Amino acid sequence: MRTLRSVVRGCGSYLPPRMVSNAELEGLVDTSDEWIVQRTGIRARHIAGEGETTSTLGIAAARAALADAGLTADDIDLVVCATSTPDHTFPSTATMIQAGLGMHHGAAFDVQAVCTGFVYAISVADKFIRAGEARRALVVGAETFSRILDWEDRTTCVLFGDGAGAVVLEAQEGEGTSADRGVLAAKLRSDGRYREKLYVDGGPGSTKTTGHLRMEGREVFRFAVGMVTDVVEAVFEATGTSADELSWFVPHQANKRIIDASADKLGIAREKVVITVDRHGNTSAASIPLALDAAVKDGRVKKGDLVMIEAIGGGFTWGAALIRW
Ligand code: COA
Repeated sequence: MRTLRSVVRGCGSYLPPRMVSNAELEGLVDTSDEWIVQRTGIRARHIAGEGETTSTLGIAAARAALADAGLTADDIDLVVCATSTPDHTFPSTATMIQAGLGMHHGAAFDVQAVCTGFVYAISVADKFIRAGEARRALVVGAETFSRILDWEDRTTCVLFGDGAGAVVLEAQEGEGTSADRGVLAAKLRSDGRYREKLYVDGGPGSTKTTGHLRMEGREVFRFAVGMVTDVVEAVFEATGTSADELSWFVPHQANKRIIDASADKLGIAREKVVITVDRHGNTSAASIPLALDAAVKDGRVKKGDLVMIEAIGGGFTWGAALIRW
């Protein structure tokens, strides 16, 4: 049955120039390169400098994605930005990106699902496109987690980084099968009972401050693999596809051990797994579009490839989406 699909027409990303190595963090908190690499696989992360904000990173990534798609902001009618570190409580970062692109039409809004934000944003934009409400959507994941870290807390400050990534989705007709290009299915989940395992201890409606990220790392680890593998299996089932058919697995880049354990449990070969956590750290909602862009630009992800994205984040939220590139 012919159906509308949201096809990826282009992608782009942006990282702040300042790269911070584990060795540099050794001078800040009681940690070591060996501990960080062994527990997380992280060797370095990028940190936003003065004058850089989530929206400026997002605008740079959006411009790169538009250029890659051969389009301008005039061709876009929806901007969805996934972020948990907005420049301001309001207006949304999406409207700031919209303005930064010189776009004065269409609609723009943020989606907040912490590290699962990009999967949520893809799912939302896909629904607008398939409902005929938008023709081309810019989906951005942008974060400056460095601004909500407690830089005296070694259990969290070594894990995160800043950056942004974006994709342009375009309405195209498909046959309604898994051979179509575009977003084939997305499954979203959340369970607010787990909110205290990974949260920010401030906010406008509670403390009237921004707050700092707090996490029970071991607890998050305990739940992560089971949750993401369940939701990935649900996407395989919904699309009638299997791990063997995947070209690439592009997970949220939180921790190499979680990624490896998830891939192993799903029966996905390690050589199909895209890893950027070693050089980006955990950039929350930006991590998947950053990893996608890296794998497209180095020639791994090509037109027609079957790509699974998945994430888990604060809330907990978790989700997965299957995209034929
Ligand atoms: N450097 C050195 N030692 C550190 C450290 C650091 N940066 N952070 C914690 N430690 C210490 C702890 O204080 C603890 O010391 P103790 O045994 O003397 O009390 C020891 O290392 C072990 O801590 P623990 O928290 O049990 O380590 P872990 O093996 O669980 O690894 C994480 C910690 C955070 C790396 C791991 O739990 C993890 O990756 N969790 C998932 C986090 C995540 O991905 N969150 C984002 C999801 S979107």
